[in-house]
This record gives sequence, structure tokens and C-alpha cells, in this order.
Amino acid sequence: MVGVKETKFFGIYKIDGKLATINLVPGERVYGEELVRVKDKEYRLWDCWRSKPAAAIKRGLKTFPLTKGWRILYLGVGSGTTASHLSDVIEKEGIIYGVDIGDRPIRDLICVSKARGNIVPILADCRKIEDYENLILEKVDFVYCDIADPQEVEIFIRNCKRFLKPGSCAAVAIKSRSINVIKPPKLVYQETRRRLEEDGFKILDFVTLDPYQKDHAFIVVGMK
Ligand SMILES: C[S@@+](CC[C@H](N)C(=O)[O-])C[C@H]1O[C@@H](n2cnc3c(N)ncnc32)[C@H](O)[C@@H]1O
Repeated sequence: MVGVKETKFFGIYKIDGKLATINLVPGERVYGEELVRVKDKEYRLWDCWRSKPAAAIKRGLKTFPLTKGWRILYLGVGSGTTASHLSDVIEKEGIIYGVDIGDRPIRDLICVSKARGNIVPILADCRKIEDYENLILEKVDFVYCDIADPQEVEIFIRNCKRFLKPGSCAAVAIKSRSINVIKPPKLVYQETRRRLEEDGFKILDFVTLDPYQKDHAFIVVGMK
């Protein structure tokens, strides 16, 4: 008998110790994930080796405040592995504006978005806000950034300042080696936190993602 447990996070469950979300498109897989039927619902197991928010939750993240109907700006959305789970959480009423510079991931994401109806794929460089700001016609409830770029923190800050509703939260996945290949990750994380605080963000949560993602950290901030 499969047991489903609620977690403290809206729309995120545990099935036999594994994270899961309720499939918005029953019967459809996005990245080969396992589907589990319990009573009248179908769950998609959320692979913490392939998705950083899932790894962060496994590593003890306490703050991940998504809910039904939210608008999310996702920088570095890729082909939809993580976005599909966020899409499950925000349900049909929500929208993910998913920006990626790669035409291959965006092509894959278009297929995912057609089935789901709550993801808007945007082929653009998130350093150039002017190239996509006309496609995002509202302030968003949450910004998530996962671009593995040396300038990631600055890019994240600029996008939050342009698109995030005042008083809202945002999260950034930091790949230490992308920011500085020789500095110890601990130092890179400290500098990243300081940089965010200097710009007026409050650090709400911080976890490292080892062993799921080597030398990565996940930071949740609040914007004043
Ligand atoms: C680590 S992958 C993202 C994986 C995805 N977030 C997930 O969990 O499914 C990083 C992505 O960032 C994109 N990227 C890198 N630099 C970017 C930029 N300046 N603007 C937009 N996307 C960028 C890459 O094309 C790549 O798809």
C-alpha cells in the first residue's frame, strides 16, 4: 500500500520518502520520472538528483513559498525538468514565464508547455531584460534563477528588481565553480550572500546541495 504524506510545502508530497507533485497532465512524463497512482490522483516523483529545488528540500530547506495561482519568472528554465514540477504546484491558474538562451531546451520546453498550458517559453538572454520585458506583462510572485553564469547574482538581482512584486520572495541556485573555479565554495557562498544583502535582499534560507549537486547552494531571499 503506497502512503502519501503532505510536506510543509504547498503541493509537494512524500511517497515512501520520495518527493512528488500531483501530475497536472495525468499519464504524461516530462523527463522519464516515475508516475504513481494513489486513489484518484496521479503523482510524479520529483528527482532530487536532477532538480535543485527538490535537492534543496531534501537538504532541509524550510522556506519555499509557492502556491496555487502564482506567477513565476524562471531564469534558465532549461527543457522543463524542474519547471514541470513547479507547474504542477501552481496548477492551471498559475503561470511560469520560462526564459532560456538555448534554442534546444526551449524547443523541448514548447512541447512540455503545450500539454500543461501554464508555462510560457521565452527564448532570450536574461542579461538583456529589454529583449523580453514586453512578454511579461505583470509583476511576478516568485523569481527562480538557475543559469550557472559568473554574473548570475547580478542578473538575478536585476530581474528581481524589474519583475518581482514588492515584499515577495525569490530563489537562486549557485554553482560555485561557475562563479569562481578556484575559490573554495564556502567563500563563494559567503560573498554571494553579502552581495545580496548589500542590494537590500534578506536571506531567508540557505542550504548546500551536496551530494545531489556538487559545490552548489540554494538561497531563498526576500525583497523589501
Ligand atoms: C543548469 S541548466 C538549467 C536546468 C533547469 N533549471 C532545471 O532544473 O530543469 C542552466 C540553463 O541556463 C541557461 N542559461 C545560461 N545562461 C543564460 C542566460 N544568460 N540567459 C538565459 N538562459 C541562460 C542554459 O541554456 C541552461 O538551459
